[in-house]
Amino acid sequence: MKPVLSVQDLAGGYSEVDILKGISLEVMPGEIVTIAGTNGAGKSTVIKAIMGLLPRSRGTVMLGDTDLATLSVEDRLDCGIGYVPQVANVFASLSVHENLLVVQGVKKPRERADAMYALFPALAGHRRRAAGSLSGGERQQLAFARALMRQPDTLLLDEPTAALSPARVDEILDYVRVLPASGTTVLMVEQRARQSLAISQRGYIIDQGRVAMQGAARDLLNDPKAADLFLGKHSEQT
Ligand SMILES: Nc1ncnc2c1ncn2[C@@H]1O[C@H](COP(=O)(O)OP(=O)(O)OP(=O)(O)O)[C@@H](O)[C@H]1O
Ligand SMILES: [Mg+2]
Repeated sequence: MKPVLSVQDLAGGYSEVDILKGISLEVMPGEIVTIAGTNGAGKSTVIKAIMGLLPRSRGTVMLGDTDLATLSVEDRLDCGIGYVPQVANVFASLSVHENLLVVQGVKKPRERADAMYALFPALAGHRRRAAGSLSGGERQQLAFARALMRQPDTLLLDEPTAALSPARVDEILDYVRVLPASGTTVLMVEQRARQSLAISQRGYIIDQGRVAMQGAARDLLNDPKAADLFLGKHSEQT
């Protein structure tokens, strides 16, 4: 089987100094893959580099047979990759419905929005409300729905559960869990590494811009060395 997403020796960052120092990772069709690591490890930077939001100094990013490395962000989205940023992932002053309809490149936006309301019933009751007035969990569902409007083959999620209460965390991860069944492969960054690995097939642990460990999610969950790496000293997890 060929990977849907293949990143090889990717280096880059925000200025002359590379934050990513040569990252390689692969995502196979139908997988959920977790990227874990402590604050500042470079997790968001990897996702942004895959999306083309940062300068790249070397390395390749392949989506199936398509070389993304020289494409614009918009062209990457057109290739079937979706992205939910860690922050600023909805337009706070627009209504829920407007947030869905402003997504570019959707063929039948109204039908697609209805499909999103069916998937996220909490949003259906708030169509006219400003996204900025939603609860954290609802806002995260809206961010998710915005990315799913385009029916991406591959979805990149950057900390979808950040700042949510435990019950809401489970709710969001339940939405992630079922994505492969509807044809969407997932690469997800999570601080809640244990919960995220529990719904993943494989994981990568990033430390200081490098892949420090990788393997089957089950193995990472049982490896004390992995726990030291992804828990760091800031973790809320036990
Ligand atoms: N806009 C920026 N300009 C310059 N440096 C940045 C910028 N954003 C992040 N960095 C630096 O890049 C490094 C990696 O940051 P990144 O956001 O990828 O970490 P992260 O693993 O996602 O952390 P977190 O868990 O806190 O979200 C950090 O040292 C950070 O300070
Ligand atoms: Mg981050």
